[in-house]
Amino acid sequence: MLVYTTQITLKEHLSPLKSKGKTIGLVPTMGAIHMGHLSLMQEALSQNDIVVVSIFVNPTQFNNPNDLEKYPRTLERDVKLIESLSDKIIVFAPSVEDIYADNAVADIFKYDGLENQMEGANRPGHFNGVGTIVKKLFEITEADKAYFGEKDFQQLQIIRNMTTQFKLPVEIVGVPIFRQEDGLAMSSRNELLSDEAKKEATLINQIMLQAKNLFKSKSIKEVVDFVENEFKKHSNFELEYFEIADEKTLQTAIEKTENTKYRGFVVVHLDNVRLIDNISLN
Ligand code: PAF
Repeated sequence: MLVYTTQITLKEHLSPLKSKGKTIGLVPTMGAIHMGHLSLMQEALSQNDIVVVSIFVNPTQFNNPNDLEKYPRTLERDVKLIESLSDKIIVFAPSVEDIYADNAVADIFKYDGLENQMEGANRPGHFNGVGTIVKKLFEITEADKAYFGEKDFQQLQIIRNMTTQFKLPVEIVGVPIFRQEDGLAMSSRNELLSDEAKKEATLINQIMLQAKNLFKSKSIKEVVDFVENEFKKHSNFELEYFEIADEKTLQTAIEKTENTKYRGFVVVHLDNVRLIDNISLN
């Protein structure tokens, strides 16, 4: 399997293929590959001639240095896992210097207000970092399609917005959340949980499913109160936020209106790990 660690060598490989009309699918990741990533790769393999998986822990999207330091880095294992899916996949695993030279600083983006909600409000600068790296990766790979999981639903909407705004010649494909059988959303951060905490974390999806059920008959405030109270009952969990928002604008919803799609977005801390999930409510 091909593993490139510099932009130049990857471009040298891809450019002639692109000129011959081959289509390129990109799956951007920060590594610690799990089934969720593999489902993105599977989708990409079915729709493109060439699939590139980038593995890069992007420093400019971490607002918390401790979080950046703790982020799992498991390149060797990642490459083996990807190879077990298909040895035709190309891995791009550059260094920070290769991507940013000596200036690892994010560009500033506006995404029509999408950046001011939830993760944007709680992780200052995060979506500038995401926009910076994703735009660079699109340029380096000249991807025709790029694949992102719905687990980071706000990120997906922001990347769609950026792609339209800058008229980037790439199609964004959103892929549904991949869950374990017990409902826990697959995440690289799950690696940081103890075995005990992994079991406890299944509560997140259970509460979200209950919220979805309540949403049929209760007001938005009642559903939000329910979720907040449920997490209060479990002292191991610290709820950072639960919000119900319009799926398109990501504006916090106060009252239900007809013909609007709503989603519940949650972030909790468990075992010193920040876990994120969301669910379509209607
Ligand atoms: O979702 C992620 O893993 C990252 O935010 C991404 C899209 C790979 C950019 O670093």
